Amino acid sequence: MKTKLVAFTLLASLTATAIIAQDDPFKDTVEIRHGLMLQMATDLATLGGMAKGTAPYDQASATKAAGNIAAIASVISMEQFPAGSEAGKATDSFALADVWAKQDDFMTKITGLNEAAGMMQTAAATSADAIKGSMAQLGGACSACHKAYRQPES
Ligand code: HEC
Repeated sequence: MKTKLVAFTLLASLTATAIIAQDDPFKDTVEIRHGLMLQMATDLATLGGMAKGTAPYDQASATKAAGNIAAIASVISMEQFPAGSEAGKATDSFALADVWAKQDDFMTKITGLNEAAGMMQTAAATSADAIKGSMAQLGGACSACHKAYRQPES
């Protein structure tokens, strides 16, 4: 009986996943925004290594990393967040419904990211210490938005 119930639950959740995946008009958009976010995380890690001193300061790669983040920040807009692409409705989405309910504030968080990325560009061209000095603002811009608008993974 118990086994049957487990099997049924499993089947039901697999079917639900399949249905969501099949008619999900947001699949590409969600993948794109994940790609943009992941690239920023990669570049932030490069800068973080230099800030912590676990990697030597390298002006060329620091400048490139900060430039990438600034470029991506300038791309992020409601275009990657079409209405309806929230967690539970679009496959793999962790975006909370507040992205749309509090869109003005969400946009403010995007502006904050752009400002912090701009500061980091100057810092990256200067020194590891300068990068360290700008990490809190840039990292803070990421987490301020995640806290409010990204569903925690677990
Ligand atoms: C304006 C809001 C906002 C800002 C600023 C922001 N993010 Fe995100 N981020 C999100 C949202 C919303 C999601 C969830 C998107 C989804 O699952 O569809 C997300 C998801 C992610 C993910 C998970 C991607 C995946 O594959 O699931 C990573 C990594 C990430 N962000 C890194 C960053 C980094 C690094 C920064 C700062 C340099 C940053 N984000 C700035 C809103 C933001």
